[in-house]
Amino acid sequence: MSARFLILYSLILTLLSCTEQEVKPLRISIIPAPQSLLVNPGYFTIDPSTLISNTDDFTHSVDFLKSFLEVTTNRSWETKYATENVILFEYDASITAAEAYTLESNAQQILIKASTDAGAFYAVQTLIQLLPFELEKPVNAQPIHLPAVSIKDQPRFSYRGMHLDVSRHLFDVEFIKKYIDAMAMLKMNSFHWHLTDDQGWRIEIKKYPKLQEIAAYRDSTLMGHYNDSPRLYNDKKYGGFYTQEEVREVIAFAKARHINIIPEIEMPGHAQAAIAAYPELGCTGNETGVATEWGVFENIYCPNEATFTFLENVLDEVMELFPSPYIHIGGDEAPKTQWKTSDIAQQVIKENGLKDEAELQSYFIQRMEKYVNSKGRNIIGWDEILEGGLAPNATVMSWRGTAGAVEAAKAGHDVIMTPTSHCYFDYYQSENDDEPTAIGGFLPLEKVYHFNPIPKELTAEEAKHILGPQGNIWTEYMTTSDQVEYMAFPRMLAMSEVAWTAAENKDYASFINRVEYFHKRMDEMDINYANHLCELKGSFNESQEYELQTLLPHYDIRYTLDGTEPTATATLYKAPIPFTANMTLKAAVFNEEKQIGRLFTQEFLYHKAVGANISINKEPHKSYPGSGAAGLINGIKGSDSRYGDSEWLGFWGDDIEIEITFKESIEINEIELRFYNAPGQWIYAPTHIVYLTSEMPGEKVYMEKSKENSYNLKIDQPGAVDSIKLVIPNYGIIPDGKQGAGNKAWTFIDEIIIN
Ligand code: ACM
Repeated sequence: MSARFLILYSLILTLLSCTEQEVKPLRISIIPAPQSLLVNPGYFTIDPSTLISNTDDFTHSVDFLKSFLEVTTNRSWETKYATENVILFEYDASITAAEAYTLESNAQQILIKASTDAGAFYAVQTLIQLLPFELEKPVNAQPIHLPAVSIKDQPRFSYRGMHLDVSRHLFDVEFIKKYIDAMAMLKMNSFHWHLTDDQGWRIEIKKYPKLQEIAAYRDSTLMGHYNDSPRLYNDKKYGGFYTQEEVREVIAFAKARHINIIPEIEMPGHAQAAIAAYPELGCTGNETGVATEWGVFENIYCPNEATFTFLENVLDEVMELFPSPYIHIGGDEAPKTQWKTSDIAQQVIKENGLKDEAELQSYFIQRMEKYVNSKGRNIIGWDEILEGGLAPNATVMSWRGTAGAVEAAKAGHDVIMTPTSHCYFDYYQSENDDEPTAIGGFLPLEKVYHFNPIPKELTAEEAKHILGPQGNIWTEYMTTSDQVEYMAFPRMLAMSEVAWTAAENKDYASFINRVEYFHKRMDEMDINYANHLCELKGSFNESQEYELQTLLPHYDIRYTLDGTEPTATATLYKAPIPFTANMTLKAAVFNEEKQIGRLFTQEFLYHKAVGANISINKEPHKSYPGSGAAGLINGIKGSDSRYGDSEWLGFWGDDIEIEITFKESIEINEIELRFYNAPGQWIYAPTHIVYLTSEMPGEKVYMEKSKENSYNLKIDQPGAVDSIKLVIPNYGIIPDGKQGAGNKAWTFIDEIIIN
């Protein structure tokens, strides 16, 4: 049954329950949406004598439900066999899919069937979501009514992950548990705990006390944004670490929720904190501090025997703590500058017949893999571990797009999908200027929701290597747990549906409806989610008229075109708005008299290229298509802080040529070009541009930066032109010492304003 029916059924149920008896309307709003759900008439009533009937097969799940109900109903719950007024667990060998379950509720009982404790646990999570949201906090109220339903459910992917970086900012054990609890609610099963990085080492390693004394603390922290100039720092000492006892406590907490924790110990890069504690682990032997700003650092582990011994000893303690079948060893963003000039590194290259530093990184990873494999575990690495030769048993975490995923899966390796374009929850989620500072980019809820973890290039057989998706939370710009929640929710809800719900059962409109209701559940859970449901979205239709859309179409949109803020009496939006002159559109969503969404503002610039023909010799990257070539002359400038919005077109490494043909000859005085410039995100404006016209043979080379993201070409040509061509070379390979060094730079281009 499609999720659309789910809404319909919940409305019908509301009516039935209102008319039948004095039962509060029962609403069904399950995230992630189950495989199939049928709503039946009636309900099950939890009263003070309702029992839980146990089977020994599902002790974790039964205990979990029992504890939840005992807290929320403020009474003890007996577990003994019964068939009436009971929540009954049954082992069912015919349910063969891993983590699958069925849940049937009627007036007599709630019957949960599964063949694994994990399946029973996900049934319990569904059951909790069927309860009124008020029960997320103890309410001490019975009876409680639950809708009568038949649910059959199983996940789409075996790996359903969330990541959390605790190096850039540290979060206490209580918050880590809250995060894990929320993951469990959303039927996620893998927590990727990013425990070490340049800015702080966060796990106690008893053999190396300086990791606790030195590597866990930095002297100051960058304030504002990395791209700010000048950079400012606060000079407060910052840091801390999890003791092994705390780590054990978190692992046990996660285990009881069927969540495996994958620890990440970064190598050979992102190692400056460890090298600050033990300079002999680096190639220079120089003293360095724990990093105080974000980015990529040249202090990486030296491939000498002392380093391998250190890392093996660290991993011994890590593997002693974490039962995970996977150990994440990082592998990303390791600049090779120091290896190039290090006698030790060069000697290892020579002795092992390696071609270059890329093969040395591969040697490093493969050597560590062998060690991890010898302890019966497997490694996961970021997709850089493909460079110089992939370690034989490694699982690849594909983050720089999906090319790494395709290459790894085709080579028979398992893959976890975390491309920045759809999985980096440190990106902005709204175009509103009052969003808290984020790293950059733009990843709204809808884009997360529509993520398909299976790259198109894979055959069905190869696609079996895609274990599943993961949302990543890098915390450079999240100083508090409230801020982490703001960035994680509701995007984690969308990711849970990407990971769990069959593709044919996904439906964004249904999802939004359920998210709106889920707000109340998250309120009860004290989760500081972002709420952008009442924001407006605008785009041009085929007639070049501007359309406004809201996710909640049952409310009104009102707008003005004269720069004033719309009120409840402003023009009601009924049809797309024509664009024939400069204008400022201001609009908002109203529930009758009350404005319920934030103000939407859009400037329109009616310049000489609007309505012309435009072509580009290359397609933009599939993750950053903007509004296509036409979007470059649509009169709308992209955001100065979100390069992933509907205006910016992203090209990865390509040189591009743009041709604009005007309806009739025009005089050109000046062209304003907009390029995004964010070296921290590998985005560079081109170093020059070539300008050509048919009327004026020869070429002119320009590049003059005028203001933020804008570059002006002052045209000194006589007469009118019919068409122009702009040749825009890519910046090239990112130089050493910069973030993403060695990778191709991105070019992001937006409005070409012709005056
Ligand atoms: C990463 O975002 N550096 C894996």
